[in-house]
Amino acid sequence: MAHFAKPSEGSWTEHYPELGTGPVSYEDSISPEHFELERKAIFGRTWLNVGRVEQLPRAGSYFTKELGAAGTSIVVVRGPDGTIRCFHNMCRHRGNKLVWNDFPREETSGTCRQFTCKYHGWRYSVEGQLTFVQQESEFFDLDTEDYGLAAIAVDTWEGFIFVNLDPDNTIPVREYLGDLGAGLVGYPFDQMTQVYKYRAEVGANWKLFIDAFAEFYHAPILHAKQATADESRKLSGYGFEALAYELDGPHGMVSSWGGMSPPKDLDMVKPIERVLRSGLFGPWDRPALDGLDQLPPAINPARHRAWGVDSFVFFPNFMVLVWQTGWYLTYHYWPTSYNTHIFEGTLYFVPPKNARERLQQELAAVTFKEYALQDGNTLEATQTMLESRAVSQFPLNDQEILLRQLHKTARGYVEDYQKSFATPVRISAAS
Ligand code: FES
Ligand SMILES: [Fe+2]
Repeated sequence: MAHFAKPSEGSWTEHYPELGTGPVSYEDSISPEHFELERKAIFGRTWLNVGRVEQLPRAGSYFTKELGAAGTSIVVVRGPDGTIRCFHNMCRHRGNKLVWNDFPREETSGTCRQFTCKYHGWRYSVEGQLTFVQQESEFFDLDTEDYGLAAIAVDTWEGFIFVNLDPDNTIPVREYLGDLGAGLVGYPFDQMTQVYKYRAEVGANWKLFIDAFAEFYHAPILHAKQATADESRKLSGYGFEALAYELDGPHGMVSSWGGMSPPKDLDMVKPIERVLRSGLFGPWDRPALDGLDQLPPAINPARHRAWGVDSFVFFPNFMVLVWQTGWYLTYHYWPTSYNTHIFEGTLYFVPPKNARERLQQELAAVTFKEYALQDGNTLEATQTMLESRAVSQFPLNDQEILLRQLHKTARGYVEDYQKSFATPVRISAAS
């Protein structure tokens, strides 16, 4: 790893010869068969971030998560001992979904002492043991010890809760997240507990939205109308290049300029941004917080004075964006079919101390939504035309290095999975 400065020779991409520089096929984003393989090879085998520890503040706090891509629904719950556990959200009697409210397909959260199945009333402790069976004597040799909830591996990293559906996995999440994950340790994620959350159904393959957030090549063009007209013309003429890229196994990051927080010239931004001193890049004034002066080594790897935001892409579907102005964003992409997914964008700030700070955060949150909608529109337009297969190879430039890596990694996981099922060559003993 560790390419902190733009390589003096060649390009970012040429620094990783395994990526190649040729055109890339997007068949992995339009093939239903490929998606079926990804469900098992990727979503059934890797560490998936499903939330944060703050969502489980006390014993009995729980939330459910629909993991359609991995073919299940899970419940994540904190036990009386403080331990966070994860189970398939499924009753052991006849398989009813255990935890849900009004609509069985919708996620829910809350606090409880036990889980009670809505079908025949079996009960489970928050540690997963079967504790009550209605008319137990009607059953045949039923040992409640044998019918606890089916457990799933769960692990945390910097307060982020990850699950892994692969029963054979032996790698802890810290190790899975590699040097990039290690390089973020110590960032004050735990202090940023003011949360604004968006969720959207997007008519595009999950990887296409990661593509849109893993390059800034599109920003001056697609988001041109977000700046004032004069500024927008300047930005698109100037072009844009990131400060640094790093690739680390299946994961990657791009480090970028700050640009407009605060803008060099106040005429660059809209009046409400001027008044509130906030915008897409968050509140312009960084909160006073220990841990923001000395940033962990993976952040702003080029140590550039004009640094603004780092976007970390943790394979398969978790992104963390750390902003110079002292807040962070996460993105999640949960596939629901080969050409649809649920996108979640969550903004995390230090809790506001007054109404003005709250409004600054609200403005950042609504501005973020405008950008994300612009990105989302394009994705559906891209997906429909990719599916025409009129063209099948696409040139990616140096700023699109993380896209090259993402699609290669996804294809690699599928290939490895297929190989693990390949029929072994038979060697017959000589007679
Ligand atoms: S299915 Fe849950 S108690 Fe019967
Ligand atoms: Fe964008």
